[in-house]
Amino acid sequence: MTELDPTKLPRHLAIIMDGNGRWAEQRMLRRIVGHQRGVETVRMVVEQASRLGIGYLTLFAFSSENWSRPKTEVRALMTLLQKYIRIETGRMMKNNIRFNVIGNRNDLPREVNQILDEALQQTARNTGMVLTLALSYGGRQEIVRAAVRLAEEVRTGGLAPERITEELFARHLDTVGLPDPDLLIRTSGEMRISNFLLWQLAYAELYFTDINWPDLTIDQLYRALADYQARERRFGKTSAQLIGRN
Ligand code: IPE
Ligand code: IPE
Ligand code: MG
Repeated sequence: MTELDPTKLPRHLAIIMDGNGRWAEQRMLRRIVGHQRGVETVRMVVEQASRLGIGYLTLFAFSSENWSRPKTEVRALMTLLQKYIRIETGRMMKNNIRFNVIGNRNDLPREVNQILDEALQQTARNTGMVLTLALSYGGRQEIVRAAVRLAEEVRTGGLAPERITEELFARHLDTVGLPDPDLLIRTSGEMRISNFLLWQLAYAELYFTDINWPDLTIDQLYRALADYQARERRFGKTSAQLIGRN
């Protein structure tokens, strides 16, 4: 098993869980079977991240753009989501996990929103890992929503435009209260961001693997974390500055 330095774990791990459809198609199965198997990987990753002491885990589960998939797949995904949340809430309580959602919840079916609200309420006082699901989420849409809210505050007179800073802007995003991700993992070999956390990923380390999401193992997750631990995050500075030689 890959060795990890427990003092150098990402504080916030974000994941684009991709490749469920291809996993199924390669096995002549329906795409939804891939999504079902994907849920098992979600369970594994949530458990591992929480055990390792990662503070924040954010999973891209359904994008704004995913609404344009065939209706049958969208419906099946919504049903699977409801089932997952209902079953997982108990486990979140047991593991002291606080549940969180980002994205445009107005577009989600009412039954899904109901279950999400229950999970949010039940886990609200938990103090362990924050598990955020990005649902009906798009980075550009989120930035526009933040801009609209700020414009509204300016219009109603409470806010002077020159007081809009990066910090204030970030506080109007869905991710308010979450630190920026330190590491982004994407499975299935695609090397793109697909409209995920555009603002927040500014300085994230990126890790891509060819493995499809349902096939991801604990050791592959650990390898991604070990790869992250070997990187030097410079944030625009020089290496010498980072080791205090300058
Ligand atoms: C990721 O798997 C899950 C969602 C986007 C809901 P995909 O469904 O995108 O799988 P591929 O990319 O078609 O293989
Ligand atoms: C991104 O995956 C969204 C999720 C993982 C939920 P997609 O499969 O939708 O991304 P593209 O369309 O290949 O870029
Ligand atoms: Mg995909």
